[in-house]
Amino acid sequence: MKIRFFLIIACFGVFSSCFIEQEMMLVSPNENIMLDFYLDKSGKPHYEVFYKNSTIIKKSSLGFDFENTNPFSDNFEVMNSSIKEFNETWQKPWGEQIDVVNHYNELIVELQEKSELKRKLNIVFKVYNDGVGFRYEFPEQKNFKEALIKEENTEFNLTEDYKTFWIPGDWDIYEHLYSTTKLSEIDALNYKVNDALAQTSIPENAVNTPVTLVGKEGIHLSFHEAALVDYSGMTLKVDPKNLSFKSNLVGSRNTTYKVKRKLPFHTPWRTIQITDNAPDLIASNLIVNLNEPNKLGDLSWFKPMKYTGVWWEMHLGKSSWDYGMEMVNGKWTDTGKAHGKHGATTENVKRFIDFSAKNNIGGVLVEGWNTGWERWIGFEDREGVFDFVTPYPDYNLNEVTAYAKEKGVEIIMHHETSAATKTYEKQQDKAYALMQKYGMHAVKSGYVGKILPKGEFHHGQNMVNQYNNAAIKAAKYQVAVNAHEPIKATGLRRTYPNIISREGLRGQEFNAWSGDGGNPPEHLSIVAFTRMLAGPVDFTPGIFNIKFNEYKKDNQVNTTLAHQLALYVVIYSPVQMAADLVEHYEANPKPLQFIKDVGVDWSETKVLNGEVGEFVTIARKERKSENWFLGSITDEKSREINIDFSFLDDNAIYEAKVYKDGKSAHWDKNPLDIEFDTFTVKKESKVKFNLAEGGGLAISLIKK
Ligand code: NOJ
Ligand code: CA
Repeated sequence: MKIRFFLIIACFGVFSSCFIEQEMMLVSPNENIMLDFYLDKSGKPHYEVFYKNSTIIKKSSLGFDFENTNPFSDNFEVMNSSIKEFNETWQKPWGEQIDVVNHYNELIVELQEKSELKRKLNIVFKVYNDGVGFRYEFPEQKNFKEALIKEENTEFNLTEDYKTFWIPGDWDIYEHLYSTTKLSEIDALNYKVNDALAQTSIPENAVNTPVTLVGKEGIHLSFHEAALVDYSGMTLKVDPKNLSFKSNLVGSRNTTYKVKRKLPFHTPWRTIQITDNAPDLIASNLIVNLNEPNKLGDLSWFKPMKYTGVWWEMHLGKSSWDYGMEMVNGKWTDTGKAHGKHGATTENVKRFIDFSAKNNIGGVLVEGWNTGWERWIGFEDREGVFDFVTPYPDYNLNEVTAYAKEKGVEIIMHHETSAATKTYEKQQDKAYALMQKYGMHAVKSGYVGKILPKGEFHHGQNMVNQYNNAAIKAAKYQVAVNAHEPIKATGLRRTYPNIISREGLRGQEFNAWSGDGGNPPEHLSIVAFTRMLAGPVDFTPGIFNIKFNEYKKDNQVNTTLAHQLALYVVIYSPVQMAADLVEHYEANPKPLQFIKDVGVDWSETKVLNGEVGEFVTIARKERKSENWFLGSITDEKSREINIDFSFLDDNAIYEAKVYKDGKSAHWDKNPLDIEFDTFTVKKESKVKFNLAEGGGLAISLIKK
């Protein structure tokens, strides 16, 4: 348990040829990763990162520009430094596994300016076996009371022209398709944005995080941040010529600074996950480990669940969110203009409740239940429009919740804020209290549209606070939050485990209406190694009617049916939607059996194989049983996957119920070709499977 730590006080400015004043090195517990911190001759802080003798981050500087004071740049000296080793195992209340090892070596460097003001800045590094996290701490001090940060200047200077999986640095939305290019070829300013997006803002050649990079020798890196609290989200500005990223914080049109904080405070962690293969990126717990422990205590009121809902039918155009009301004297009024297409009716919701109860599905999401939908996308004056306590006349909240309770199903509330933040803030207490009264413990929130107040962006400091405060408030009413159009996930679920899931990616809904061909077959094989590293993903899988020609001829899902099933295991979320319509499931009882059986809360996760953007296979063990479930997906290429079942328990026999692509399956030509098979397997078993183009494989492993 040794910590290798070097403090090299070099030069002291005596020799004019010296570049380094003070240098410190820290290694990971297994000594594979080494971090080097030093001040250069001008007193400017720098760091470097090495992995198994390769340089991952070369000389990169650290600092800030402020609106109200001189920058933090150079002229620092090290006043003090300390190191420690930390090793704990904590437990996820729900998640991909129960036990999480949190083992790192930490270096705290206390800097002070040599100039008259003698302002102080601490930098804290934590080096894990799977990467590095560091953050800036602004301690309480005499000559610095409030920081108006114009820009954070954290460099990540790389040494290779990595293959990079990126979405543009959009201050407003993460719902973009991933591009795969060399680092030197990233061109976010010419990224073709989907016309259907209600909000988007890409001011720089930057990328949103997580951004994942694969090197020629197999090094895998992913850059992100952890514990984003009262600060702006960070995009990474790209310098294609110099193969480097630099922090570029999300701003606001209303201020010339990007972050405002009173001292003392600290920034989020800047994270670099480093592995030598793709599966280990998914297995990494670096992001959650860098967050503080659970502050909510007992969370037994929230149960991970599969859910159905009044949702896909609106995206297909079968029904609508709105009822057809009119605003009369500032009140939504039924003036007889109901169009009869409203989806969230008592009767329709009961149908979903019945179906869920029959199929081992714990929840039903109801969108379009409340007044205000008549004035949603495209309207500027959205404040005061949505009401989070008043149902439409054909939706009886009492009746529906009582019926659901009787059937052992929970109704999931929906709050589409339309990004009208003041209206939502005002109603939150009332709205969450209403949920508590009816025994609803989960809300899906939405923030479609440009943020009101105008000039703010989804990922700026004000909105980061808006999302975090909503979740903290919701917890008081025993409400868990699944946010759409959210700020990125940064592992806060560890601290506030009622932050259960979120969107923050191009979800299934795009397949219904994107007009750009939908999500390509490779989409989830990229998402698993990028967006999913940040935390749970509400992708909403399980579309069985892949072509849905009876609704929309020009749109479709671009995967096979077996691929849709595999997503229940591959894409992690403690709330996992069975997104298709009841009638489409009822017409397909055989594949439905997998959704019925599959777990949603896991005691163990094993990433069996995978390559970023190509394929991935994950096996997860259900918490409440001894059963394992396996999902494997591929991009547009067909491939043979060898499954080694050595992850199974010793001396146990399992019935493997297999859902695999049929011989002529193909995401476009024959997506519904699926085959079923049942055989027994044990730890020693090895089986080959063929995945079709855009295909997948799902297996329930029921312990005998
Ligand atoms: C966008 C969300 O992602 C989607 O799931 C939802 O149905 C609509 N907004 C309406 O709130
Ligand atoms: Ca969305």
